[in-house]
Amino acid sequence: MCGIFGCVSHEDVVPRILQGLKRLEYRGYDSAGVACVDDRGALSLTRRVGKLDNLLDAMRDHPVHGHTGIGHTRWATHGAPSEINAHPHTGTSGTLAVVHNGIIENHDVLREELTAAGCSFRSETDSEVIAHLVEQSYTGDLAVALRAAMQRLQGSYAVVVVDSRHPDLLVAARQDSPLVVGLGPNELYLSSDIPALLEFTRDVMFIEDQEVVVLEGGEARIFGPAGETKNRAVQHIDWGGDAAEKLEHEHFMLKEIEEQPRIIRANLALRAPGQSVAGATPLQADHLPEGLFDGLESLTLIACGTSWHAGLVAKFWIESWARLPVDVDLSSEFRYRDLLVDDKQIVVPISQSGETADTLAALREARRLGARSLAVCNVVGSTMSRESEGVLYTHAGPEIGVASTKAFTTQLLSLRLLALELAARRGTRSPAEIAIAMEQLADLPRHLEATLARAEEIREVAERFSSAQDFLFLGRGVNYPIALEGALKLKEISYIHAEGYPAGEMKHGPIALIDDQLPVVVIATPGRVYEKVLSNIEESRARGGRVIAVAQEGDQRVAALADAVLPVSDVSEELSPIVNVLPLQLLAYYIAHHLGRDIDKPRNLAKSVTVE
Ligand code: F6R
Repeated sequence: MCGIFGCVSHEDVVPRILQGLKRLEYRGYDSAGVACVDDRGALSLTRRVGKLDNLLDAMRDHPVHGHTGIGHTRWATHGAPSEINAHPHTGTSGTLAVVHNGIIENHDVLREELTAAGCSFRSETDSEVIAHLVEQSYTGDLAVALRAAMQRLQGSYAVVVVDSRHPDLLVAARQDSPLVVGLGPNELYLSSDIPALLEFTRDVMFIEDQEVVVLEGGEARIFGPAGETKNRAVQHIDWGGDAAEKLEHEHFMLKEIEEQPRIIRANLALRAPGQSVAGATPLQADHLPEGLFDGLESLTLIACGTSWHAGLVAKFWIESWARLPVDVDLSSEFRYRDLLVDDKQIVVPISQSGETADTLAALREARRLGARSLAVCNVVGSTMSRESEGVLYTHAGPEIGVASTKAFTTQLLSLRLLALELAARRGTRSPAEIAIAMEQLADLPRHLEATLARAEEIREVAERFSSAQDFLFLGRGVNYPIALEGALKLKEISYIHAEGYPAGEMKHGPIALIDDQLPVVVIATPGRVYEKVLSNIEESRARGGRVIAVAQEGDQRVAALADAVLPVSDVSEELSPIVNVLPLQLLAYYIAHHLGRDIDKPRNLAKSVTVE
């Protein structure tokens, strides 16, 4: 939510900041702005409402150059999207400017106090108080002023400050919002996330809560809450150079859908280096802390949105293979309940970004109550990965499309490996069974490829049904979460109302919705509930519903009943969620495409939900 970027260099930083903002635009796209210390040594500010292109046009018409600057792309929380509410925000004197990601909860009290002290506010944002607080606290040292301002702030923030009195300096700080330092050959960067840095550098340092970082003289220095110096290791990110590029694809979402077979193959190879996947111990390459699973009695999976759907699938796998009880909870609900958590329990936050505010808060609460922790994250070095005892990285590479696709299937892969690992350690399945399950995973990329090869057929179905106002998605058993995921994908990028439902619950209410205007998407691949799902299709048809079935290639029974078929490869029931979600991702993509939606940046959404 909101992207922030900063750069200090001997060269002009403005093109770099704009490039960084382009990479961060998926975090927010209501308005954007840049502030830099220009050639005359003055603070120059350019802001525009709407997409980043509006800012780029403005800066093309009125170019600005400088060696130190900050930029922001906004997802509005306090104050409507408008130029006056766009970041950066300046203090009263106009010598310094700040960009902020997060929410300042006590902004109204501070605003009142600062106004009484003579500060003049221009925007309706919570963020502007930071600029005034830093300005009020300044006595010559910008880092000290920022630290003093932090004492007054309640809430979450990643904040960067530029000041024309210090033309070669940036200072920044964080509390509960992500902030990464990039170390380039001749310049230093600050960014909300790693993909925005990749074209400049792969060497990064993560800033922790309550720390202040000072970028000056080619050096990044980090200080703790009492001003003490902190040493921080530099981490090298090995994501490929074009990993965050769209390349020849029209949208990141389509690129990321198509990448899935290759990523899952590479992912398995990483986990079984130099050997066949069938012979590998599931999590042998994941460096988990000793004893993490010893005496374990239950698991609680916590996540939001698509990642929560991955957790729902994993419950089936872990309970069946490892015979351990699994709870799956929405982080936003979990964090405010009277929890029953202890040290015999492992809490598993599942998160692409590793920064989702609710999941992070839920993890912290569970840890406070004594639970063990194992994060399933995509972003290396993310806050959740650092704050958990163990991490299973999903190795999906940067996911830029706001609708999550490859992050989901790689989460499923990691969770499947976790289920197999627990089964192996607990002896609930034999080594031979584990080896067969691993072999099935090795075959998965082939099934994904075969399914994606039918994309044209899916596009035709999508176009045929794209005028519908509502969709119902039904699935059962291990594919019930896939029905939820199919509905979520459709609504978030096409803005068509869609509901996901467990097929067995249809008769308890949703069947009332069915008429000849309502396409019903039914996941009808073979498995223990196949016959029951066919009955659900019959029941929908009997009420005039138009059925789109996800079915295995060549399934004549389903083909005879459905109005349209989305064909998938013939994978086992247990692994079918990983394959069945692909045609639903494509269905959503092609419907949204046909309707001319902004697929990679759907309205009102942002990639990383770092505020509550
Ligand atoms: C949907 C989507 C969201 C995220 C959710 C959690 O396509 O992307 O529902 O899954 O915001 O985000 P992470 O996984 O980063 O915690």
